[in-house]
Amino acid sequence: MADQQVHDAPGPVPPQLPVLRWAQPPEGPVLVLLDQRRLPAHETELVCTDVPALVHAIQTLAVRGAPLLGIAGAYGIALAAARGYDVVEAAGLLEVARPTAVNLRYGVRLAADAHGRAEAAGATPEQAAGAALEAARALHRADAEASRRMAAHGLAFLGELLPGGGHRILTHCNTGALVSGGEGTAFAVALAAHRAGELRHLWVDETRPLLQGARLTAWEAARNGMPYSLLSDNAAGSLFAAGEVDAVMIGADRIAADGSVANKVGSYPLAVLARYHHVPFVVVAPTTTLDLTTPDGSAIEVEQRPAREVTEVPVPRGAVAEAGSGVSVAPLGTRAYNPAFDVTPPELVTAVVTEEGVLSPVTGDGIARLCAAARRG
Ligand code: MRU
Repeated sequence: MADQQVHDAPGPVPPQLPVLRWAQPPEGPVLVLLDQRRLPAHETELVCTDVPALVHAIQTLAVRGAPLLGIAGAYGIALAAARGYDVVEAAGLLEVARPTAVNLRYGVRLAADAHGRAEAAGATPEQAAGAALEAARALHRADAEASRRMAAHGLAFLGELLPGGGHRILTHCNTGALVSGGEGTAFAVALAAHRAGELRHLWVDETRPLLQGARLTAWEAARNGMPYSLLSDNAAGSLFAAGEVDAVMIGADRIAADGSVANKVGSYPLAVLARYHHVPFVVVAPTTTLDLTTPDGSAIEVEQRPAREVTEVPVPRGAVAEAGSGVSVAPLGTRAYNPAFDVTPPELVTAVVTEEGVLSPVTGDGIARLCAAARRG
């Protein structure tokens, strides 16, 4: 069951509501999400009291972005355990709610394993539920710390790539505080550059079809007082041609063992443009997004989404950004090609920035080294 509480957020003000929080009202524990489908017009909390409600929130992108999906998945297991549901069944439902972002599976398994270990050691159901919750909280904290470290590594790397500051960064989708326990991935680097006085401009791709750039990244940039402009995705080519882009910075939903990067659809064309125009293409992601069990890009499952997300123009301001809520623009019965992500091969990626450091060039050996470093902690 999910319940909604609405608070109007009329302009660029500091964040009022946490992106995700655990709460324990007298009726029982709940997971409270900032409903990203309703931003920027409304700051709305979505209260999930069970796993099916959370699965629905994940599938409709009320909660989204790879690192946050991992955190939400872990809390989802804690919720199931605390409310006495079958944790194995909950894990099965949550893991496949969205197939591409590997963080979701990571977070779910982390909390389910903690629960299973506690049970195997003879813990009571309450104690086992507590172990799952502690695993979720630890992941939440670790992601915030990873975000801080990625921002520092990314800023230093930008300084090496483009000495002298004044960076004009192009980004795609949304990779800020809305996807993380901290300030995000690629956006956190741009924000660090802004705070250091080194960001000349942030170019924000609108990110069709669900407009994560226009609705969410522009919102985050405005709140942080960053110099930014919004562009339609298909204007990126002429922006490169005009020499207005110094670096592309994006996040990732999964990075395969060979360094192939799955990210929001539209990322691959940016990588091709960046290569043609000799502009660095930098991917910023925590090591929880690296997946050694996926050998290469062809093995990454790319989520296909409803046709209506493409045949409709989404969200009159204030409406919910999901299929079925927009204005239909295509003839009735039009079919659509609507992959949520695309895959960029490693040879087009200048660097992968993680909390464990920067990998450039991007190679399979380097990805394995980063994973090993993350395991050593
Ligand atoms: O479909 P979404 O909005 O969940 O897609 C999100 C992205 O593609 C992000 O760029 C990615 O998760 C990286 S977020 C740090």
